[in-house]
Amino acid sequence: MKILIVDDESDICELIGFMVQDIFASDVKTLFAYSGNEAIKILQENNDIDICICDHNMANGMGSIVLKYLIDVKSKTKFVLCSTVIPSDKPREYPAEYVFLNIQKPEIGNGLENLFQLVEKSRLEKSQPSAEEFFPVKVHVLSLIEKLPADIYIRMSDNKFVKCINQAEKFTADDKDKYIQKSVDELYMKKGEHGHSMKEIILDSVQKIMERRNLPLAEKMNSIHSQLVSLIKFTGITPELAEVSQKNIKQAVSVMMKSPLISSFWKEINLLGEYPSTLYTLHSMLASVVVKKLHWSSETTMYKLSLSAFLQDITLDSIPLMEICDNQEFVEKQSGFTRAEVKKYLEHPQRSIEILASFKEIPPDVDRLLLEQHEMPDGNGFPRKLNANQLGPLTCVFIITGIFARHVLKEKGSFDVGAFVMHLEGRGYSRGNFKDSFEVIKAMKKI
Ligand SMILES: [Fe+2]
Repeated sequence: MKILIVDDESDICELIGFMVQDIFASDVKTLFAYSGNEAIKILQENNDIDICICDHNMANGMGSIVLKYLIDVKSKTKFVLCSTVIPSDKPREYPAEYVFLNIQKPEIGNGLENLFQLVEKSRLEKSQPSAEEFFPVKVHVLSLIEKLPADIYIRMSDNKFVKCINQAEKFTADDKDKYIQKSVDELYMKKGEHGHSMKEIILDSVQKIMERRNLPLAEKMNSIHSQLVSLIKFTGITPELAEVSQKNIKQAVSVMMKSPLISSFWKEINLLGEYPSTLYTLHSMLASVVVKKLHWSSETTMYKLSLSAFLQDITLDSIPLMEICDNQEFVEKQSGFTRAEVKKYLEHPQRSIEILASFKEIPPDVDRLLLEQHEMPDGNGFPRKLNANQLGPLTCVFIITGIFARHVLKEKGSFDVGAFVMHLEGRGYSRGNFKDSFEVIKAMKKI
């Protein structure tokens, strides 16, 4: 994306350029002009400028002549007025239908955020595939599908797609390796071309996943989580995927509640596998240890915790964000993430509840566990800012075992329960309704 920034104050141009790079991330190129006439020259030489952010009052050509030029040549460049003047002050010079957005100085930061949201929205609308367009499918998802529902294409350039696998063939593990070795992680299908409906394809794949038996529990949970989450990200949450996810979580809970997990926990635990599947598995297992020790060991209680562990970060794509233990750590690391990532992170507890709505017969408390997953004992978490006395005991089990699992996965072989217990104590996780779960974890070093 190319953005032209026009302002006779070169420092303002630089500042807007800096903020644009920050908000729009890597794929944006900025150009600068310091007058209306200079802007027109640049627009004449570059017909691929997507947005022109332009001041009004400039000595060598006002902003209005830039907009007039864009209207006269029927340009596709979107005009954004960035000035103390607003379009309704000068409707003849800035007709509302030709001004994509107005940014009023000095509120440039907020204005650019709004611009980013608008651009994202129109980009998403444009990228919706039409009947004839190709759409990407992850190589990993293809490997889950028993029989390919349509011809598969590889992308050679922006508009060139070449068929590489025929419909009804199987996409083998060798095929997957071959593409991954070439750093191709997406292939393409033509929308509307597949013989089976996507629903049948997903059911076939899910059937295959469910038939995998005789794996150790942790491995099975990792593998099923990884497959189901890939499919959910591919098709969105469908009733079939919700049902299969619930069945699998219930099966895993049933095994966890019957197994003598506590005595052999550190021997049984398998830290192999990939994030976030390993997080779901370990978080569930640690929660089962805590609820057993607390003698709350009903399968329904454990199902609530495990379903919440499955859904907690399902709308996040960034593993570094999923690895963050609590809001204190998030605040410390926040500057390393883009604004869009920060926004997504702050909204993800609420978004996970929206995914939960597709599930049937949800036991009570799951929505609360998801919403309160990042609350903190001192009331400095989000979104509700509840403290250790206001959070329910089940939420406290969920939060503390989530932190526990993230620490184990981060530190692996060097993880030390004693040091972790001190860390929890220092952050207040030994107080209020966290106390009972904290004591169980503290006693775990003796096992
Ligand atoms: Fe989370």
